[in-house]
Amino acid sequence: MTGVALVTGGTRGIGRAISARLVKDGFRVAANYAGNDEAAAACAAELGVSCFKWDVGDYDACAKGVEAVVSALGPVDVLVNNAGITRDSVLHRMTREQWDEVIRVDLTSAFNLCRLLIEGMRERGHGRIVNISSINGQKGQIGQVNYAAAKAGLIGFTKALALESARRGVTVNAICPGYIDTDMVAAVPPKVLEGIVASIPIGRLGRAEEIAGCVSFLAGPDGGFITGATLTANGGQYIAG
Ligand code: CAA
Repeated sequence: MTGVALVTGGTRGIGRAISARLVKDGFRVAANYAGNDEAAAACAAELGVSCFKWDVGDYDACAKGVEAVVSALGPVDVLVNNAGITRDSVLHRMTREQWDEVIRVDLTSAFNLCRLLIEGMRERGHGRIVNISSINGQKGQIGQVNYAAAKAGLIGFTKALALESARRGVTVNAICPGYIDTDMVAAVPPKVLEGIVASIPIGRLGRAEEIAGCVSFLAGPDGGFITGATLTANGGQYIAG
């Protein structure tokens, strides 16, 4: 494949694996990141991606970021809305800041980037958008009303935008990873994580590369007839209908 792929949160965890895989697939990859300059430098040096720092929850920052990506690499063909954070707490202790920040970074970011890129994709008659949702947006999770709401919101967003975009050659899909071996999951209290791993029929955490493979499929030529879909990759932990 040729063309430009923009991966938000693309320098660490699942995002880094997605960036690496899309480079391997032949894309020129722009990896957005929020704060960790060291990880971004390593990503640029080791994968050959171009890294761009901005806050995906901020519309104006996204507008400037997209402009920088397009002038460096060209129009964006593939957008992967991967950036996400957790601020876990049971609702009866959750602060408004914990709610707002997760909705802003995990859900509003998809609006910001899709809104900025969709017109160009429609005009060019081609585009692939992949939104990284979560098993916890499908099944819920104690301590995550904010994250589950944002990730479930991404699924509805995906379906609606898929319908709007299909006739213009733009596909829009969601992937719901289960618990993947990343820093985010490593931050779950060890006793809780032990119980979670015990509930995964495949018997282990997922690997970031396994999610990157799903993105590669949806962004590549074999994904052309798939739109509005939710692809689950969770080791059997939750089998959605
Ligand atoms: N069953 C029922 N209720 C439970 C429970 C359980 N097993 N565990 C906790 N609770 C609830 C109860 O409502 C309890 O309320 P009460 O005060 O009325 O008893 C409340 O939790 C308080 O429990 P604790 O004081 O023991 O818990 P805490 O406040 O210290 O921590 C937590 C709670 C934040 C949810 C913590 O258990 C936690 O971090 N769990 C992990 C959440 C998780 O899986 N996050 C995923 C992060 S990775 C990710 O998100 C990636 C992805 O996409 C998969």
